[in-house]
Amino acid sequence: MRARVLGVLRWLRRLDEALGALTRRPLAKLDPEVRAVLRLGLFEAADLGVPPPVATDAAVRLVRRLGKGSAAGMVNAVLRRAGERWQALDSSATPDLRLSHPRWLYERWCSAFGREAAVRMMEVNQTPAGLWVWWANEAEARHATAGGLWLAPHPWCPGAWRSPADAPALARAVAADDAYAQDPSSQLVAHVTAALGATLDAATLLDLCAAPGGKTALAVRLHRWRTAVAGDLRLGRLRLLKATLARLGGAALAAVADAERPPFAPQAWSLVVLDAPCSGTGTLRRHPELRWRLAPDAIATLAARQLAMVEAARELVAAGGVLLYSTCSVEPEENERLFEEVPPGWAVEPLEPLLPPGTPAVATTAGGVTILPAPANDGFSLHALRRLNA
Ligand SMILES: C[S@@+](CC[C@H](N)C(=O)[O-])C[C@H]1O[C@@H](n2cnc3c(N)ncnc32)[C@H](O)[C@@H]1O
Repeated sequence: MRARVLGVLRWLRRLDEALGALTRRPLAKLDPEVRAVLRLGLFEAADLGVPPPVATDAAVRLVRRLGKGSAAGMVNAVLRRAGERWQALDSSATPDLRLSHPRWLYERWCSAFGREAAVRMMEVNQTPAGLWVWWANEAEARHATAGGLWLAPHPWCPGAWRSPADAPALARAVAADDAYAQDPSSQLVAHVTAALGATLDAATLLDLCAAPGGKTALAVRLHRWRTAVAGDLRLGRLRLLKATLARLGGAALAAVADAERPPFAPQAWSLVVLDAPCSGTGTLRRHPELRWRLAPDAIATLAARQLAMVEAARELVAAGGVLLYSTCSVEPEENERLFEEVPPGWAVEPLEPLLPPGTPAVATTAGGVTILPAPANDGFSLHALRRLNA
């Protein structure tokens, strides 16, 4: 059922366009349960390949079970014709409508990345993300492959695996804490963290927005830190982080802390990681509802908070140390715009040399990298600054 709910949310705009052309009353004025049944029925036929008469009959039965039998005739009549309306949108609709994204987001991506890339990103967002993991228990990975589980490596992210033939087996390994499910772009941030750690003497790591802890757990696995501290604003989420670290065997101290007013010693940390709260526009295939929740002016509000966090985080970095900033947003305002002015006493830390070969990174105007959403990865953006030795 979860896949169906996410699928309806993913295709919401196009579903409503096709259905709204056939209902006598505007879709928004229909009973919410009847509207949901219509959306589900069309989604099953159009996207899941359920034969249209089967999807229609199921929808009619469902609307009756919900006690809305008076709508059964309308549901039947609308769904019998909705498939044709849906298909007509393939040739008549603008890309944003055809691929069910808000117009403003499509226009924003056209300005930032060009029309072709914007359409490609929307296409990616219409397919559910696959399950990628890194192994916490490598002996178990060897045992599973010896037992016949076929694991395929990620095209560019080291240590990231999927199971093309048996995703449920991988899901069981995740449930047993033998593996951790994490998108390869998110894993990449931990790899870059570890690579930066290797450039620093006896590195101390402070991860300011760390919960639920996937990146911290991988970063402490990949590099030996003198000290590793993970902070987050929310105690509940910090508990998740502590549980993640305990399950996966990672060592880091955890502290409730506001990254806008961090209660940590100034100029004392060789690597400060700020994986900031963001609009999440690189992850719309995983969170299809985000595109409808996000208001256009939310980006500016987020960027103002992110800037406050960047400025506070900079205060914590020791001489010669690095601030690594990442988001799962691809919006320039939440990423490169925050780094276009390099403060005196700081230098842009080039990240491209630290990326695994083949990483599909696009250089940003501020010396960072953006990875656009693609079939094998979410969208992410990374920037880094090094405090010069006095
Ligand atoms: C993008 S998520 C971090 C994901 C995490 N790094 C990981 O890999 O699992 C952003 C986190 O920032 C936290 N957060 C939001 N506002 C914050 C603040 N002012 N100070 C510290 N953490 C904050 C949220 O609770 C959330 O856990």
